[in-house]
Amino acid sequence: MTDRIINVAVDGPAGAGKSSISRAAAAELGYIYVDTGALYRAVGLYALENGIPTSDAEAIAAMLGGVEVSLQFVDGAQQVLLNGRDVSAQIRTPEASMAASAVSAVPAVRDFLFETQRAIAREHSCIMDGRDIGTVVLPDAQVKVFLTAKPELRARRRYDELIAKGQTVEFKDVLDDLLERDYNDSHRAVAPLRPAPDGVVLDNSDLDLPASIAALIAIIKEKTNG
Ligand code: DC
Repeated sequence: MTDRIINVAVDGPAGAGKSSISRAAAAELGYIYVDTGALYRAVGLYALENGIPTSDAEAIAAMLGGVEVSLQFVDGAQQVLLNGRDVSAQIRTPEASMAASAVSAVPAVRDFLFETQRAIAREHSCIMDGRDIGTVVLPDAQVKVFLTAKPELRARRRYDELIAKGQTVEFKDVLDDLLERDYNDSHRAVAPLRPAPDGVVLDNSDLDLPASIAALIAIIKEKTNG
C-alpha cells in the first residue's frame, strides 16, 4: 500500500454531471472532491455584490486586490469562503453562474485562482472538476476525464436541480443559458474548455447516475492500477 497522491482531473461542459459524479466517486475512493467552478462563482459573486460589470475585464482584474477566496473541507464537504464568509449557497443562482462564466474569461482571474487549486492537489488525493484542470491546472494528473452529454440532457438536469431547490425558472432559459455558457467557455482565448489530448472522453448521455459513477471509478482504477 503506497500513500502516493492521486490527482484526477474531470473537465467538461456545464450540466454534464461533473459534480454529482465526481463527488460520489471521490467518496467511494477516499479522495477529496474539489469543485473549482465554486472559486470562479465566488469571484463572480463578489463582482455582482459590488456592482462591478463582469464584461469589464480591466475592472474585474483591478477588483481582485480586495478578494480572498478559499475552499475548506468540512466532513469531506466543500465550503467556499469569500473574504472569510461562507457563500456556498449564494454562488448557486443563475446570475452567479453567468457572472462566473464572464469573469472566468479574464486571464487575471484564472492566474489568481491557479495556485489555490494547485496547492489543494499537491496535498490531497482528489478528484478536481472544472474546465481546464487536465489541460492547464494539473497537466500531470494521473487521470484525466472529459465528461460530457448532449446539451438538452444537460439542460434538463440543471433545470430539475434548480426546480428542486425551489427556484422559478423556464426550461428554455436554462437551455439558452447553458448554450451561451458552453460557447463562452469553449471560445475564450485563455484556457478554453477542450478535452486534454491524453484524456478519456466519457459521454454519459445514455448512462444514469450510478452507471456514470461506476464508469468514472473504472477509468480511475484502470489508470492508477488500483
Ligand atoms: O462548473 P460551474 O458551472 O460551477 O462553473 C462556473 C463557471 O466557471 C463556468 O462557466 C466556467 C468557469 N470555470 C472555469 O472557467 N474553469 C474551471 N476550472 C471551473 C469553472
